[in-house]
Amino acid sequence: MSSNEDLRTGIADVQDFATDWDLNDQNWTSNPYPIVEDLRARCPIAHTERFNEGVWMPLHYEDVVGIAHDVESFSSVHHGLRRGGTTERGLFPPINTDPPEHHDLRRVLLPFFGPKRIEAWRDHLTADCRTRVQAIVERGRGDAATDYSQHIPVGAIAAILGIDPEHGDRFRMWIEGILGVGANDADTLRSAMSEVRGYMAGVMRERRQNPGEDLVSHLVSIELDGRPLDDDTIERMLVLQLVAGIDTTWSSIGAALWHLAQHPDDRRRLVAEPSLIPTAVEELLRAYAPVNVMRRVLNDTEVRGVEFRQGDHVLMTYPIACRDPEVFERADEVVIDRAQNRHIAFGVGIHRCLGSNLARLEMTIAVETWLDAIPEYSLEPGAEVTWSTGQIRGPRNIPILVG
Ligand code: HEM
Repeated sequence: MSSNEDLRTGIADVQDFATDWDLNDQNWTSNPYPIVEDLRARCPIAHTERFNEGVWMPLHYEDVVGIAHDVESFSSVHHGLRRGGTTERGLFPPINTDPPEHHDLRRVLLPFFGPKRIEAWRDHLTADCRTRVQAIVERGRGDAATDYSQHIPVGAIAAILGIDPEHGDRFRMWIEGILGVGANDADTLRSAMSEVRGYMAGVMRERRQNPGEDLVSHLVSIELDGRPLDDDTIERMLVLQLVAGIDTTWSSIGAALWHLAQHPDDRRRLVAEPSLIPTAVEELLRAYAPVNVMRRVLNDTEVRGVEFRQGDHVLMTYPIACRDPEVFERADEVVIDRAQNRHIAFGVGIHRCLGSNLARLEMTIAVETWLDAIPEYSLEPGAEVTWSTGQIRGPRNIPILVG
């Protein structure tokens, strides 16, 4: 196996994405959209043998939405995108469950993610963003990803779980070990899973002794059908909170700040009209949608003339769907005041993102607070912007100069 560094920087050397796509290819991670445009013109659904036992990649909004709604034929019980030979990752409820159990497992989390409950975190998030942005202002330069975006969701999730935000570096390392390098390397995956589950088991023990108002205390005390949730299920649900809530939101905040660094017209308009920021956030979510998830085919079925066989996997390409020109006018442009925006960056159907209220609040506060403190900034000339590999795409370094 190659070194972790090779895996991070892109081990793939793809000649034709229609038959051999790979999300780790550097051309893809740095700018997938021209590749997608070319693919749409010549094949309805791309394929690769590099992962699982073969994975389909739909390129049309309509197909992605259709698959998301068809829970009879497409299951969410799968171990993610795995390079051939790597071990099973394990399942994270509720994202890796199907009806009927999905319903109850989602329902137990819902109270913590409704708009009112989330609103309670506004001041906490604003204070965190202000402190971080102020440090960048004082230095006159910084990294909009590593000094700012990556910390905001960690603070939010830590508050919801009632755990120490100072553990953020560990959380990010485990997420990279599960979704990033771990998709290609079994040892990394195993050790990340074992460490994060051990950590969560410790938090659960502690919360049984000292219960609070947090999500962990809730999960260790509730009953479903008269029985408490078992520890294995709770641990995996808690790991999902980190995996689903951190890289995703970090990617979206980072992509928004990266875009605004390079588009002074959009930036100045938002500075002059801050009430437009929530609309702009929706458009930035659409244009730079970060999350691809998976489905496993339960019954042989046909989509757009392509035969999917039982056991095949399908990548739910929400980011590609969000730029489908059949659905969005000027799909490849960021139209900062786009009025009609049926984007599916948060997915669609029964697994639609449970954390969307929180993610929107985090993004809106992050952009507002940044522009308030740093209305003028640009990418540092000559410095490199780097992008993540794998199922969640976002900028991981955004060196900027203030002013
Ligand atoms: C910009 C940030 C985010 C994006 C783009 C995003 C995207 C998504 C997408 C596309 C799905 C659908 C998965 C599927 O179809 O199988 C999903 C599900 C989910 N997300 Fe998010 N997410 C974000 C932030 C968050 C946050 C902050 C949390 C919570 C802390 C969260 C928790 C979840 C959970 C628990 C699910 C599974 C829901 C279910 O299976 O019923 N997400 N997310």
